[in-house]
This record gives sequence, C-alpha cells and structure tokens, in this order.
Amino acid sequence: QKKISTATLLTMKQQGEKICALTAYDASFAKLFDEQGIDVILIGDSLGMVLQGHNDTLPVSVDDVAYHTRAVRAGTQRAFVIADMPFMSYATPEQACMNAAKLMVAGASMVKLEGGEWLLHTVRMLVERSVPVCGHLGLTPQSVHVFGGFKVQGRSDLQAEQILEQAKALEKAGIQLLVLECIPSPLAKKIRDALTIPVIGIGAGVDCDGQILVMHDMLGVSANYMPKFSKNYLAETGDLRAAVSQYINDVRAGDFPGAEHSFQ
Ligand code: KIV
Ligand code: NA
Repeated sequence: QKKISTATLLTMKQQGEKICALTAYDASFAKLFDEQGIDVILIGDSLGMVLQGHNDTLPVSVDDVAYHTRAVRAGTQRAFVIADMPFMSYATPEQACMNAAKLMVAGASMVKLEGGEWLLHTVRMLVERSVPVCGHLGLTPQSVHVFGGFKVQGRSDLQAEQILEQAKALEKAGIQLLVLECIPSPLAKKIRDALTIPVIGIGAGVDCDGQILVMHDMLGVSANYMPKFSKNYLAETGDLRAAVSQYINDVRAGDFPGAEHSFQ
C-alpha cells in the first residue's frame, strides 16, 4: 500500500477524489483508522477537550501534542500524519520553527496553524525550512475567547471576503493544505474553487475536497455535547470498524456532510 503524501493529496483534489480525515491520538486508533483506509490523521489540539477534559484547546502544550504524535506515528502505515501547533506555540516565527521541529521529529509530516494575515511570514519561514504547513480558517478554536464562543464564522459579506482573501494569501505563502471550520457551505465552495491546494472541511459543507471529524464526535463518546456538523457513526453501525468505514464511504460518495450537518 502506497503511503499518502502531499503529492497524493494534491492529485486527489485534481481528480475530484475526496480526502477522508479523522483525528487520532494513540497508536491503536491510528492503526484501526489506517487499516480502514483513512487518508489523513490529525493529532488535533482537540485532545485538550476530548482527552484532557478542558473546555477549550488553550491549555494544550507542544509536549502534549508531541507525545500523542509519537503514538499515532507508531500506529500509522499509509495515512498522512498532521500535528496541530497548540495555542501560543507559533506566536513568533522563531517560536514556530522551534516548536514545529519538535512535532516533525515526533513523527508528523505536516503541522497545522490557526490564522490568516498575521501568519504569512511564519508560513514562509516554515516552508523555506522544509516544514509542510496546513492552514486553518473560519472557527479557529484557539480564538474562542476573541469570538465570544464557538460560533459559525464568515456569515457577513465582509467576513466572508476576508476569509477568502486569507485563504488565497496563505496558499501564496506556501501552505499545502487548508482546513475550513464552521463556515457557510457556499463560502467553503468558493474557497475550494479558488485554491489549487486541497481544502478539508469540518462544518463547512459537502463542497470541500475532503472532510475531517474529531474521532470522539463520530463515535459519540465526547464528554461534552455533539456538534451539529458531526455524526455518530458508531450508533448507526454498532461496530467501530464499520463506523469508520461507513464514514469513509459517505465522504467519498459525497453523502456526508448532509444539509443538516452544514451551515447556510
Ligand atoms: O484539533 C482538531 O481536532 C482540529 C480539527 C477539528 C480540524 O483542529
Ligand atoms: Na485543532
């Protein structure tokens, strides 16, 4: 089985093949997801909420993400592995380089950063130093206290235009993948069509190049509530492997997310 790379992901977008992604935080789940055919595994800083029980992702450290990245890497053969840079670990380009290095050495093949305009220099620094970067726009959870809650972003014309411009600028700066979280579906489609790089959505509608969910949400075991954009695949299938495989089939067929999991 051929390993998924940034080149594979780009080809998938070009050929209209959907990219299926899940978060994972340990070797056993990573191996199970990998065996079911997941394309991308993210060690999300969502681990602060689903593993550590915090109300947001802010308390997560680089060492936390590195620890889980080592575990996921050990369980993964084929899938592409991305690690989140946690809150304040990329406040300056220099900090970003130092901390991204820790995650790459731990086994990530790409790091993900939340933000737009202010990150352009950081993205160029990382890419020039051979660290592939994934962007993250829309509802960026590290900014929850600025937003005043976990709220859909990009609802106004002005905000929508800003997110589109940020996406284009990030692509120009060198990101090779973009996550869009909780934005209206038509805006996500517009961004997907405007970019050459693959765009992966969560709460961003079906017209993205791929989808990602937090594993605890799609298995219905989250300590907190179930977000509107997620779906409990374990309840539907009654079996862990079947749940993952059903999620993958639904994403590939364009059957997930439906309108009921999306924002207009
Ligand atoms: O931390 C995370 O799990 C994420 C995904 C939801 C995109 O950033
Ligand atoms: Na995250």
